[in-house]
Amino acid sequence: MSRLENKIKHIAIIMDGNGRWAQGRCRPRIWGHVRGSSVVSEIVEEADDLGLRALTLYAFSTENWSRPPKEVMTLFSLLKKFLLKEKNKILKNGVRFKVIGDISTLPDKTKELIVDLENLTKGNKGLILNFAFGYGGRSEIVSAVNRLILDGKTQINENDLTQALFAPESGDVDLLIRTGGDQRVSNFLLWQIAYAELFFTSTKWPDFTREEFRGIIYQVAGRERRFGQIESVDSLSESHRMAKTNKELLEKTSPQVQ
Ligand code: FPP
Repeated sequence: MSRLENKIKHIAIIMDGNGRWAQGRCRPRIWGHVRGSSVVSEIVEEADDLGLRALTLYAFSTENWSRPPKEVMTLFSLLKKFLLKEKNKILKNGVRFKVIGDISTLPDKTKELIVDLENLTKGNKGLILNFAFGYGGRSEIVSAVNRLILDGKTQINENDLTQALFAPESGDVDLLIRTGGDQRVSNFLLWQIAYAELFFTSTKWPDFTREEFRGIIYQVAGRERRFGQIESVDSLSESHRMAKTNKELLEKTSPQVQ
């Protein structure tokens, strides 16, 4: 665990490959989602055991609305089942649960369960667990800008925008994992992954295990992260601190430098 300290605090996962996993077994695609949802519980447990600050899971994108209604309904019902099944464990482990995205079209009962669990856990200090549901990265940025405009801002900086995102307490993403073999980011956490390490595995989500998860984390923790600098630094905030100190030093030695 010590190798991870200050290196990997926030992990985001694109849980891809459910449909192909099921089709490869001559089963309907939704069977892959059902199997995939039990993997979700395992990975959340592992993230908690590893002492991560935040885990953000892509469970339903804005683009997923174009899937057949039956598949969409299955994903809705798996979310509801997850909430009912995991509620006690989430409370017991002090996890802070949040759904990021547009949940307005979810069934009322599911919305109630989400809001209830968010309220019950908002003061928790353990793992921050974000479920991205009805989520799109561009739309999150647009909604953050609109919030700032509503607040009366006429000019903003990066920190203002970061704070107006759906889950600012999670911080930047340090590692983005995508299962299922494709190598793209699919409109996921576009602002937050600016300096993230990317890891693509061909394992389809229903076959993803806590061992593979842990292995990826330790492999990536060994990579050097430079955040655009020459020597490695352990976190983005440290990088910003160094940049500020350098700027101040330069200003002291040559006052004309802007
Ligand atoms: C991508 O697989 C996965 C999704 C669209 C949804 C992810 C959902 C789960 C892991 C299960 C739901 C769990 C909860 C708790 C809500 P895909 O169907 O795009 O796979 P493919 O690329 O093989 O077609």
